[in-house]
Amino acid sequence: MKVMLGLVTGNRHKLAELQAALQPYGVELYQVSVGKLEIQSDSIREIALTAARHAYSKLRRPLIADDSGLFIEELGGFPGPYSSYAYKTIGVEGILKLLEGSTRRRACFRAALALILPPYEKVFEGEVCGRIAGEPRGAGGFGFDPIFIPDEGDGRTFAEMSLQEKNRYSHRARAARALGEWLASRWRGLGRQSL
Ligand code: IMP
Repeated sequence: MKVMLGLVTGNRHKLAELQAALQPYGVELYQVSVGKLEIQSDSIREIALTAARHAYSKLRRPLIADDSGLFIEELGGFPGPYSSYAYKTIGVEGILKLLEGSTRRRACFRAALALILPPYEKVFEGEVCGRIAGEPRGAGGFGFDPIFIPDEGDGRTFAEMSLQEKNRYSHRARAARALGEWLASRWRGLGRQSL
């Protein structure tokens, strides 16, 4: 069972995480270099799906697009779908500043993976909840990894974990496993060796 899927992203960390999570399902993921169309929306599902449809209209190849964000309870869900903009502007330090003095540090990462594999078009979601650290820790990963501590871990931030450890808990790996399971169920249903 094997399927080649393009990934619409400019982020090599996302590519590596998704490759590792999807490889056990027979998915070979490669980066496609079509500009990711990023619409403004409150829904990461809608953003991922629009990016996937846009890329498919250009490339006509089976592909996935990902959108993700960090939703912080104390900040009413900010930065959420605007996480990439928040990261580029106020950054990790800016988020810590907004939470200064607050003991309510609960937050969740969410990811949506939109798959276009004609005739199918599906969106898979994943979530991981935890808390925002008091200060950045660790050198691995990307984005807000140095300040996110997952509930299910041992107190380390995502940036202090290896890619494999992060994938045990992460929103993106969970969405990827949902996609992998769906593909596997399709294969079983079709009784075929390839899609
Ligand atoms: P987008 O999915 O490309 O729109 O970017 C979402 C933004 O959320 C990224 O630029 C990161 O700052 C942040 N983000 C999403 N997923 C992760 C993650 O797994 N670790 C750390 N930051 C993340």
